[in-house]
Amino acid sequence: MEYHQSVLKKEALQFLISAREGWVVDATLGDGGHTQYILENSKPGVKVLGIDQDPSALKRAQARLEPFRERVAYAHGNFGGIASMLRQNGIDKIQGLLLDLGVSSRQLDVAERGFSFRFDGPLDMRMNTEGSITAQDLLESASDRELQNIIKEYGEERHYKRIVREIRKAQSKNPLTTTLQLANLISAVMPASRSSRIHPATRTFQALRIAVNNELHNLKIALRDSLEFLDAAARVAVISFHSLEDRIVKNFFRDEECDCVCPPKIPVCACNKKQTLRVLTRRPIQPSQEEIDINPRSASSKLRVAERVYV
Ligand SMILES: C[S@@+](CC[C@H](N)C(=O)[O-])C[C@H]1O[C@@H](n2cnc3c(N)ncnc32)[C@H](O)[C@@H]1O
Repeated sequence: MEYHQSVLKKEALQFLISAREGWVVDATLGDGGHTQYILENSKPGVKVLGIDQDPSALKRAQARLEPFRERVAYAHGNFGGIASMLRQNGIDKIQGLLLDLGVSSRQLDVAERGFSFRFDGPLDMRMNTEGSITAQDLLESASDRELQNIIKEYGEERHYKRIVREIRKAQSKNPLTTTLQLANLISAVMPASRSSRIHPATRTFQALRIAVNNELHNLKIALRDSLEFLDAAARVAVISFHSLEDRIVKNFFRDEECDCVCPPKIPVCACNKKQTLRVLTRRPIQPSQEEIDINPRSASSKLRVAERVYV
């Protein structure tokens, strides 16, 4: 069985597999599961540009996709740079874009990557191992206020003040360098909750990962910059795993679906805004119980899809 099980694979790809030929971009290539499915189920004239910021993911995907080598190109980098990656590959129009956000099971399960509070590893959390700032760097360089905001906003964690206080207390004695140090410290200060099924450090780890990788900013840029490359009727499909990401996608699709955004009092449109997308999923598509039973990590996933329109 594949190590990282691609989430909502059939649901997402029914929107991306079309009769048309040309480039589809898988901007979160990971282990290449979604891409393999696209290539297996589409015409030979369909090619995929696979992007990932994790060099080890690209290497693994490349080995897996070897049978399709003539139909795949690879780009290492952050999908926030999608426009330049497309240009560098000589691509000016794409027929589809897939974003399957977050980390892969493999990234989560390798202790040295520092994403998980279940294994002891360095406080790293960089998806791009060539990136500069680790979670430890962030914990050491951010002010108390910045750290509180990160944990509050990105982790949607109510106990952010208490957590930062304890982090500072621990750092004043010894450097905070490992995932288990941080996870244990959080578990020790969180009020016992019998109703919560998640580990007490879940939200803080999510927050630090989002901040280290600047995830929300890059998502906004990728959505915006892909618009000019999407061919008429091309689709953009996004699988998100938490409410902050989903909100960004939902709001972006909604804003791009409307024409004029002038205040109602203005008699003649002054904004000249044009509709660029038509939403194909009024409500997000979620995994079936069967998929959740097989792959519990899919439980929080949501798929939204929109289609490019030129008016
Ligand atoms: C959930 S996994 C994708 C799994 C893949 N769809 C599959 O079926 O195997 C997400 C991948 O996207 C990459 N990634 C996440 N955010 C990224 C970004 N901003 N730019 C480039 N790659 C990113 C991660 O490194 C990870 O390998």
